[in-house]
Amino acid sequence: MDEHVMRRCIERKRDGGELRAQDWEAIVAGYMDRTVDDAQMAALCMACVLKGMSFNEAFALTHAMVESGVKISFPTADRVVVDKHSSGGVSDIVSLVAVPLAAAAGAHVAKLSGRALGHTGGTIDKLETIPGFNVALSIEQFVAQVERIRCAIAAQTEALVPADKRIYHLRDRTATVPALGLIAASIVSKKIASGAHGFVFDVKTGAASFVSDPQRAHELATWLIEISKRFNRRATAIVSDMNQPLGRNIGTGIEIIEAREFLRGEGDRRARELVVKVASALLTHAGIDDADARVVRALEDGSGYLKMLEMIVAQGGDAAGFEAMHAGEELEIVARKSGYVHAIDVVRLGHAGRRLSAHDPTGGLRVNVRIGDGVEKGQPVLYACGRDRANAADLADAFFIEESTVAPPPLVYEELT
Ligand code: URA
Repeated sequence: MDEHVMRRCIERKRDGGELRAQDWEAIVAGYMDRTVDDAQMAALCMACVLKGMSFNEAFALTHAMVESGVKISFPTADRVVVDKHSSGGVSDIVSLVAVPLAAAAGAHVAKLSGRALGHTGGTIDKLETIPGFNVALSIEQFVAQVERIRCAIAAQTEALVPADKRIYHLRDRTATVPALGLIAASIVSKKIASGAHGFVFDVKTGAASFVSDPQRAHELATWLIEISKRFNRRATAIVSDMNQPLGRNIGTGIEIIEAREFLRGEGDRRARELVVKVASALLTHAGIDDADARVVRALEDGSGYLKMLEMIVAQGGDAAGFEAMHAGEELEIVARKSGYVHAIDVVRLGHAGRRLSAHDPTGGLRVNVRIGDGVEKGQPVLYACGRDRANAADLADAFFIEESTVAPPPLVYEELT
Protein backbone atom coordinates (compact mmCIF):
# COMPACT_ATOMS: atom_id res chain seq x y z
CA MET A 1 0.00 0.00 0.00
CA ASP A 2 1.25 3.46 -0.79
CA GLU A 3 2.59 5.20 2.33
CA HIS A 4 0.69 8.45 1.61
CA VAL A 5 -2.60 6.64 1.14
CA MET A 6 -2.09 4.87 4.46
CA ARG A 7 -1.27 8.19 6.12
CA ARG A 8 -4.54 9.64 4.81
CA CYS A 9 -6.45 6.64 6.19
CA ILE A 10 -4.86 7.16 9.62
CA GLU A 11 -5.68 10.89 9.47
CA ARG A 12 -9.29 10.17 8.56
CA LYS A 13 -9.71 7.80 11.52
CA ARG A 14 -7.83 10.19 13.82
CA ASP A 15 -10.32 12.92 12.89
CA GLY A 16 -13.34 10.68 13.52
CA GLY A 17 -14.09 9.75 9.90
CA GLU A 18 -15.06 6.43 8.38
CA LEU A 19 -12.97 4.25 6.05
CA ARG A 20 -14.51 2.40 3.10
CA ALA A 21 -14.47 -1.37 2.68
CA GLN A 22 -11.78 -1.08 0.00
CA ASP A 23 -9.58 0.93 2.40
CA TRP A 24 -9.76 -1.85 4.99
CA GLU A 25 -8.97 -4.48 2.32
CA ALA A 26 -5.93 -2.45 1.21
CA ILE A 27 -4.74 -1.83 4.79
CA VAL A 28 -4.91 -5.51 5.77
CA ALA A 29 -3.29 -6.62 2.50
CA GLY A 30 -0.61 -3.93 3.01
CA TYR A 31 0.05 -5.05 6.58
CA MET A 32 0.45 -8.62 5.36
CA ASP A 33 2.84 -7.70 2.52
CA ARG A 34 4.64 -5.29 4.88
CA THR A 35 4.04 -2.12 2.87
CA VAL A 36 2.11 -1.02 5.99
CA ASP A 37 4.41 -1.21 9.01
CA ASP A 38 3.74 -1.72 12.73
CA ALA A 39 3.94 2.02 13.50
CA GLN A 40 1.22 2.87 10.99
CA MET A 41 -0.98 -0.04 12.02
CA ALA A 42 -0.60 0.82 15.72
CA ALA A 43 -1.51 4.46 15.00
CA LEU A 44 -4.60 3.32 13.10
CA CYS A 45 -5.63 0.95 15.92
CA MET A 46 -5.19 3.75 18.48
CA ALA A 47 -7.35 6.07 16.36
CA CYS A 48 -10.01 3.31 16.29
CA VAL A 49 -9.82 2.95 20.09
CA LEU A 50 -10.16 6.72 20.62
CA LYS A 51 -12.63 7.62 17.84
CA GLY A 52 -14.53 4.37 17.34
CA MET A 53 -15.50 2.40 14.25
CA SER A 54 -18.82 1.99 12.48
CA PHE A 55 -20.51 -1.39 12.08
CA ASN A 56 -19.71 -1.33 8.35
CA GLU A 57 -16.03 -0.78 9.12
CA ALA A 58 -16.06 -3.69 11.58
CA PHE A 59 -17.64 -5.93 8.95
CA ALA A 60 -15.15 -4.79 6.28
CA LEU A 61 -12.20 -5.44 8.58
CA THR A 62 -13.58 -8.89 9.48
CA HIS A 63 -13.94 -9.71 5.80
CA ALA A 64 -10.41 -8.49 5.00
CA MET A 65 -8.94 -10.52 7.85
CA VAL A 66 -10.79 -13.70 6.86
CA GLU A 67 -9.45 -13.26 3.32
CA SER A 68 -5.85 -12.95 4.61
CA GLY A 69 -5.70 -16.72 5.01
CA VAL A 70 -7.43 -19.94 4.16
CA LYS A 71 -10.85 -21.01 5.42
CA ILE A 72 -11.58 -24.44 6.77
CA SER A 73 -14.68 -26.07 5.49
CA PHE A 74 -16.52 -28.90 7.17
CA PRO A 75 -19.12 -30.82 5.20
CA THR A 76 -22.52 -29.38 6.21
CA ALA A 77 -24.75 -32.16 4.93
CA ASP A 78 -24.64 -34.44 7.94
CA ARG A 79 -23.81 -32.17 10.84
CA VAL A 80 -23.45 -28.67 12.21
CA VAL A 81 -20.01 -27.83 13.60
CA VAL A 82 -19.96 -25.25 16.41
CA ASP A 83 -17.41 -22.97 18.06
CA LYS A 84 -17.34 -20.54 20.99
CA HIS A 85 -15.30 -17.47 21.82
CA SER A 86 -14.89 -15.10 24.73
CA SER A 87 -14.24 -11.39 24.37
CA GLY A 88 -11.54 -11.76 27.04
CA GLY A 89 -11.64 -12.49 30.74
CA VAL A 90 -9.62 -13.28 33.84
CA SER A 91 -9.76 -16.83 35.21
CA ASP A 92 -11.93 -17.55 32.20
CA ILE A 93 -11.81 -21.34 32.03
CA VAL A 94 -15.01 -21.65 29.99
CA SER A 95 -13.39 -22.79 26.71
CA LEU A 96 -11.23 -25.35 28.49
CA VAL A 97 -14.25 -27.10 29.95
CA ALA A 98 -17.21 -26.21 27.72
CA VAL A 99 -15.49 -27.63 24.61
CA PRO A 100 -14.97 -31.18 25.98
CA LEU A 101 -18.34 -31.10 27.75
CA ALA A 102 -20.22 -30.14 24.59
CA ALA A 103 -18.27 -32.74 22.60
CA ALA A 104 -18.99 -35.43 25.19
CA ALA A 105 -22.67 -34.47 24.96
CA GLY A 106 -22.69 -34.99 21.19
CA ALA A 107 -21.65 -31.72 19.50
CA HIS A 108 -18.77 -31.30 17.03
CA VAL A 109 -16.68 -28.39 18.33
CA ALA A 110 -13.90 -26.85 16.20
CA LYS A 111 -12.26 -24.14 18.29
CA LEU A 112 -9.64 -21.64 17.22
CA SER A 113 -8.29 -19.81 20.24
CA GLY A 114 -6.02 -16.88 20.99
CA ARG A 115 -3.22 -16.02 23.34
CA ALA A 116 -3.27 -13.66 26.32
CA LEU A 117 -4.32 -10.14 25.48
CA GLY A 118 -3.72 -7.22 27.86
CA HIS A 119 -4.63 -8.39 31.37
CA THR A 120 -6.79 -11.28 30.09
CA GLY A 121 -5.68 -14.87 29.72
CA GLY A 122 -5.35 -16.87 26.49
CA THR A 123 -6.61 -20.44 26.10
CA ILE A 124 -3.65 -21.30 23.87
CA ASP A 125 -1.08 -20.21 26.50
CA LYS A 126 -2.93 -22.29 29.07
CA LEU A 127 -3.09 -25.44 26.91
CA GLU A 128 0.61 -25.18 26.11
CA THR A 129 1.42 -25.88 29.77
CA ILE A 130 0.12 -29.45 29.36
CA PRO A 131 3.24 -31.52 28.64
CA GLY A 132 3.48 -32.24 24.90
CA PHE A 133 0.18 -30.55 23.95
CA ASN A 134 0.33 -29.29 20.36
CA VAL A 135 -1.71 -26.17 19.61
CA ALA A 136 -0.23 -25.77 16.11
CA LEU A 137 -2.43 -28.25 14.26
CA SER A 138 -2.40 -28.26 10.49
CA ILE A 139 -5.77 -27.72 8.87
CA GLU A 140 -5.91 -31.40 7.92
CA GLN A 141 -5.12 -32.46 11.51
CA PHE A 142 -7.72 -30.03 12.90
CA VAL A 143 -10.49 -31.24 10.61
CA ALA A 144 -9.60 -34.93 11.06
CA GLN A 145 -9.56 -34.58 14.85
CA VAL A 146 -12.98 -32.89 14.95
CA GLU A 147 -14.33 -35.67 12.72
CA ARG A 148 -12.77 -38.40 14.86
CA ILE A 149 -13.24 -37.27 18.47
CA ARG A 150 -15.66 -34.33 17.99
CA CYS A 151 -13.39 -31.59 19.34
CA ALA A 152 -10.10 -29.76 18.83
CA ILE A 153 -8.65 -26.50 20.16
CA ALA A 154 -5.93 -24.97 18.02
CA ALA A 155 -4.12 -21.67 17.57
CA GLN A 156 -4.48 -19.60 14.46
CA THR A 157 -1.47 -20.16 12.20
CA GLU A 158 0.21 -18.41 9.30
CA ALA A 159 -2.49 -20.07 7.20
CA LEU A 160 -5.58 -19.24 9.28
CA VAL A 161 -6.37 -15.55 9.75
CA PRO A 162 -2.70 -14.52 9.76
CA ALA A 163 -3.79 -10.87 9.73
CA ASP A 164 -5.55 -11.28 13.07
CA LYS A 165 -2.53 -13.12 14.46
CA ARG A 166 -0.29 -10.12 13.69
CA ILE A 167 -2.75 -7.35 14.55
CA TYR A 168 -3.74 -9.12 17.80
CA HIS A 169 -0.09 -9.25 18.91
CA LEU A 170 0.39 -5.59 17.96
CA ARG A 171 -2.76 -4.55 19.89
CA ASP A 172 -1.52 -6.43 22.94
CA ARG A 173 1.79 -4.52 22.87
CA THR A 174 0.27 -1.11 22.13
CA ALA A 175 -2.70 -1.10 24.54
CA THR A 176 -5.09 -0.87 21.60
CA VAL A 177 -7.43 -3.73 22.44
CA PRO A 178 -10.65 -1.99 23.56
CA ALA A 179 -12.28 -0.87 20.31
CA LEU A 180 -15.60 -2.57 19.58
CA GLY A 181 -14.87 -2.94 15.87
CA LEU A 182 -11.34 -4.34 16.40
CA ILE A 183 -12.62 -6.86 18.95
CA ALA A 184 -15.57 -7.92 16.79
CA ALA A 185 -13.41 -8.33 13.67
CA SER A 186 -10.73 -10.25 15.55
CA ILE A 187 -13.24 -12.65 17.08
CA VAL A 188 -15.54 -13.26 14.13
CA SER A 189 -12.69 -13.61 11.60
CA LYS A 190 -11.27 -16.50 13.63
CA LYS A 191 -14.71 -18.12 13.89
CA ILE A 192 -15.39 -17.88 10.16
CA ALA A 193 -11.96 -19.30 9.33
CA SER A 194 -12.43 -22.19 11.78
CA GLY A 195 -15.16 -23.55 9.51
CA ALA A 196 -17.88 -23.82 12.15
CA HIS A 197 -21.49 -23.11 11.27
CA GLY A 198 -22.83 -21.92 14.64
CA PHE A 199 -21.12 -19.75 17.25
CA VAL A 200 -21.55 -18.92 20.92
CA PHE A 201 -19.98 -15.65 22.02
CA ASP A 202 -19.28 -15.01 25.68
CA VAL A 203 -19.19 -11.20 25.83
CA LYS A 204 -17.65 -10.04 29.08
CA THR A 205 -18.69 -6.81 30.71
CA GLY A 206 -17.57 -5.08 33.90
CA ALA A 207 -14.43 -3.41 35.20
CA ALA A 208 -12.03 -6.11 33.97
CA SER A 209 -13.50 -6.59 30.51
CA PHE A 210 -12.55 -4.70 27.35
CA VAL A 211 -16.12 -3.37 27.27
CA SER A 212 -16.86 -2.29 30.81
CA ASP A 213 -20.29 -0.74 30.23
CA PRO A 214 -23.10 -3.36 29.84
CA GLN A 215 -24.77 -1.19 27.17
CA ARG A 216 -21.57 -1.27 25.07
CA ALA A 217 -21.31 -5.01 25.72
CA HIS A 218 -24.85 -5.33 24.38
CA GLU A 219 -23.72 -3.44 21.27
CA LEU A 220 -20.68 -5.72 20.86
CA ALA A 221 -22.91 -8.78 21.28
CA THR A 222 -25.23 -7.44 18.57
CA TRP A 223 -22.31 -6.74 16.22
CA LEU A 224 -20.88 -10.23 16.72
CA ILE A 225 -24.24 -11.77 15.85
CA GLU A 226 -24.89 -9.42 12.90
CA ILE A 227 -21.42 -9.88 11.39
CA SER A 228 -21.79 -13.67 11.75
CA LYS A 229 -25.17 -13.44 10.00
CA ARG A 230 -23.62 -11.63 7.06
CA PHE A 231 -21.33 -14.65 6.68
CA ASN A 232 -24.41 -16.92 6.84
CA ARG A 233 -23.60 -18.23 10.31
CA ARG A 234 -25.94 -18.52 13.30
CA ALA A 235 -24.80 -17.11 16.62
CA THR A 236 -25.78 -16.64 20.25
CA ALA A 237 -24.16 -14.10 22.56
CA ILE A 238 -24.19 -14.30 26.34
CA VAL A 239 -23.23 -11.08 28.13
CA SER A 240 -21.53 -12.15 31.36
CA ASP A 241 -19.86 -10.45 34.28
CA MET A 242 -16.18 -9.59 34.55
CA ASN A 243 -16.15 -7.46 37.71
CA GLN A 244 -14.49 -10.38 39.43
CA PRO A 245 -12.54 -13.41 38.19
CA LEU A 246 -14.87 -16.05 36.78
CA GLY A 247 -13.12 -19.04 38.33
CA ARG A 248 -10.62 -19.10 41.18
CA ASN A 249 -7.21 -19.46 39.50
CA ILE A 250 -5.41 -16.83 37.42
CA GLY A 251 -2.41 -17.85 35.32
CA THR A 252 -1.81 -20.51 32.70
CA GLY A 253 -1.07 -24.00 34.11
CA ILE A 254 -3.01 -23.28 37.27
CA GLU A 255 -6.10 -22.56 35.16
CA ILE A 256 -5.55 -25.94 33.48
CA ILE A 257 -5.48 -27.48 36.96
CA GLU A 258 -8.74 -25.68 37.79
CA ALA A 259 -10.31 -26.91 34.53
CA ARG A 260 -9.22 -30.48 35.34
CA GLU A 261 -10.76 -30.31 38.81
CA PHE A 262 -13.89 -28.73 37.33
CA LEU A 263 -14.34 -31.64 34.93
CA ARG A 264 -13.82 -34.02 37.84
CA GLY A 265 -16.82 -32.38 39.53
CA GLU A 266 -14.98 -29.91 41.77
CA GLY A 267 -15.88 -26.72 39.88
CA ASP A 268 -16.59 -23.32 41.35
CA ARG A 269 -20.38 -22.78 41.42
CA ARG A 270 -20.29 -19.43 39.62
CA ALA A 271 -18.06 -20.74 36.83
CA ARG A 272 -20.23 -23.85 36.55
CA GLU A 273 -23.36 -21.82 35.87
CA LEU A 274 -21.76 -20.02 32.92
CA VAL A 275 -20.04 -23.14 31.57
CA VAL A 276 -23.35 -25.02 31.49
CA LYS A 277 -25.01 -22.09 29.70
CA VAL A 278 -22.28 -21.86 27.05
CA ALA A 279 -21.95 -25.61 26.48
CA SER A 280 -25.71 -25.94 26.27
CA ALA A 281 -25.94 -23.09 23.70
CA LEU A 282 -23.30 -24.97 21.65
CA LEU A 283 -25.48 -28.10 21.72
CA THR A 284 -28.55 -26.12 20.74
CA HIS A 285 -26.71 -24.67 17.70
CA ALA A 286 -25.64 -28.22 16.84
CA GLY A 287 -29.34 -29.17 16.75
CA ILE A 288 -29.16 -31.39 19.84
CA ASP A 289 -32.24 -31.42 22.13
CA ASP A 290 -32.35 -31.42 25.87
CA ALA A 291 -29.09 -29.48 25.91
CA ASP A 292 -28.87 -28.45 29.59
CA ALA A 293 -29.53 -31.96 30.88
CA ARG A 294 -26.98 -33.49 28.51
CA VAL A 295 -24.26 -31.04 29.58
CA VAL A 296 -24.93 -31.64 33.27
CA ARG A 297 -24.84 -35.40 32.64
CA ALA A 298 -21.48 -35.10 30.83
CA LEU A 299 -20.16 -33.24 33.83
CA GLU A 300 -21.56 -35.61 36.42
CA ASP A 301 -20.86 -38.96 34.74
CA GLY A 302 -17.23 -38.06 33.97
CA SER A 303 -17.61 -38.27 30.17
CA GLY A 304 -16.58 -34.59 29.85
CA TYR A 305 -13.37 -35.35 31.72
CA LEU A 306 -12.68 -38.40 29.55
CA LYS A 307 -13.25 -36.23 26.46
CA MET A 308 -10.67 -33.73 27.77
CA LEU A 309 -8.16 -36.59 28.18
CA GLU A 310 -8.98 -37.83 24.68
CA MET A 311 -8.41 -34.35 23.24
CA ILE A 312 -5.09 -34.00 25.08
CA VAL A 313 -3.85 -37.33 23.73
CA ALA A 314 -5.11 -36.55 20.22
CA GLN A 315 -3.07 -33.33 20.27
CA GLY A 316 0.12 -35.09 21.36
CA GLY A 317 -0.26 -34.26 25.05
CA ASP A 318 0.74 -36.47 27.94
CA ALA A 319 -2.45 -37.39 29.84
CA ALA A 320 -0.47 -38.64 32.86
CA GLY A 321 1.51 -35.39 32.88
CA PHE A 322 -1.77 -33.45 32.79
CA GLU A 323 -3.17 -35.47 35.68
CA ALA A 324 0.01 -34.89 37.68
CA MET A 325 0.07 -31.08 37.23
CA HIS A 326 -0.04 -29.29 40.57
CA ALA A 327 0.57 -25.81 41.91
CA GLY A 328 3.59 -25.47 44.18
CA GLU A 329 3.94 -23.77 47.52
CA GLU A 330 1.61 -20.82 48.09
CA LEU A 331 2.12 -17.39 49.61
CA GLU A 332 -0.88 -16.29 51.65
CA ILE A 333 -2.09 -12.71 51.07
CA VAL A 334 -4.39 -11.54 53.84
CA ALA A 335 -7.14 -8.92 54.26
CA ARG A 336 -5.88 -5.66 55.77
CA LYS A 337 -9.18 -5.03 57.55
CA SER A 338 -12.51 -6.67 58.38
CA GLY A 339 -15.66 -5.96 56.39
CA TYR A 340 -17.24 -6.91 53.05
CA VAL A 341 -15.54 -7.18 49.67
CA HIS A 342 -17.01 -4.35 47.58
CA ALA A 343 -14.74 -4.58 44.54
CA ILE A 344 -11.70 -6.42 43.21
CA ASP A 345 -9.07 -4.88 40.94
CA VAL A 346 -9.22 -7.75 38.48
CA VAL A 347 -7.14 -5.92 35.86
CA ARG A 348 -4.29 -5.78 38.36
CA LEU A 349 -4.77 -9.45 39.28
CA GLY A 350 -4.87 -10.38 35.58
CA HIS A 351 -1.56 -8.61 34.87
CA ALA A 352 -0.03 -10.18 38.00
CA GLY A 353 -1.23 -13.64 36.93
CA ARG A 354 0.33 -13.12 33.50
CA ARG A 355 3.65 -12.05 35.07
CA LEU A 356 3.72 -14.89 37.61
CA SER A 357 3.06 -17.51 34.94
CA ALA A 358 5.43 -16.01 32.35
CA HIS A 359 8.44 -18.09 33.44
CA ASP A 360 6.72 -20.70 35.54
CA PRO A 361 3.72 -22.55 34.07
CA THR A 362 2.18 -23.23 37.46
CA GLY A 363 2.79 -19.70 38.75
CA GLY A 364 -0.25 -17.50 39.33
CA LEU A 365 -2.93 -16.53 41.79
CA ARG A 366 -5.83 -18.25 43.54
CA VAL A 367 -8.64 -15.98 44.66
CA ASN A 368 -10.21 -16.90 47.98
CA VAL A 369 -13.06 -14.35 48.22
CA ARG A 370 -15.75 -12.92 45.98
CA ILE A 371 -17.58 -9.60 45.86
CA GLY A 372 -20.14 -9.53 48.67
CA ASP A 373 -18.20 -11.93 50.94
CA GLY A 374 -17.53 -10.93 54.54
CA VAL A 375 -13.86 -11.14 55.60
CA GLU A 376 -11.95 -10.81 58.86
CA LYS A 377 -8.69 -8.89 59.09
CA GLY A 378 -5.85 -11.40 58.60
CA GLN A 379 -7.99 -13.86 56.61
CA PRO A 380 -6.43 -14.95 53.28
CA VAL A 381 -8.05 -13.20 50.30
CA LEU A 382 -5.56 -14.50 47.78
CA TYR A 383 -2.80 -17.09 47.37
CA ALA A 384 0.18 -16.61 45.06
CA CYS A 385 2.23 -19.47 43.74
CA GLY A 386 5.22 -19.99 41.47
CA ARG A 387 8.81 -18.99 41.79
CA ASP A 388 8.10 -15.22 41.67
CA ARG A 389 5.28 -15.39 44.24
CA ALA A 390 7.02 -12.97 46.63
CA ASN A 391 6.34 -10.22 44.05
CA ALA A 392 2.61 -10.60 44.69
CA ALA A 393 2.79 -9.69 48.39
CA ASP A 394 1.21 -6.23 47.93
CA LEU A 395 -1.90 -7.55 46.13
CA ALA A 396 -4.03 -7.26 49.28
CA ASP A 397 -4.65 -3.71 47.94
CA ALA A 398 -6.52 -5.21 45.00
CA PHE A 399 -9.42 -6.04 47.35
CA PHE A 400 -11.62 -3.10 48.39
CA ILE A 401 -13.16 -3.88 51.76
CA GLU A 402 -15.84 -1.69 53.39
CA GLU A 403 -17.94 -1.99 56.54
CA SER A 404 -21.30 -2.12 54.76
CA THR A 405 -22.68 -5.22 53.07
CA VAL A 406 -22.94 -5.31 49.29
CA ALA A 407 -24.77 -7.52 46.80
CA PRO A 408 -22.62 -9.52 44.36
CA PRO A 409 -22.96 -8.54 40.66
CA PRO A 410 -25.14 -10.77 38.46
CA LEU A 411 -23.34 -13.48 36.51
CA VAL A 412 -25.32 -13.19 33.26
CA TYR A 413 -26.75 -9.86 32.06
CA GLU A 414 -28.50 -11.06 28.93
CA GLU A 415 -28.53 -13.67 26.20
CA LEU A 416 -29.10 -12.70 22.54
CA THR A 417 -29.64 -14.86 19.50
N1 URA B 1 -10.55 -12.07 21.78
C1 URA B 1 -10.10 -12.00 20.51
O1 URA B 1 -9.93 -13.01 19.84
N2 URA B 1 -9.85 -10.79 20.00
C2 URA B 1 -10.04 -9.64 20.69
O2 URA B 1 -9.79 -8.59 20.15
C3 URA B 1 -10.50 -9.72 22.02
C4 URA B 1 -10.75 -10.97 22.55
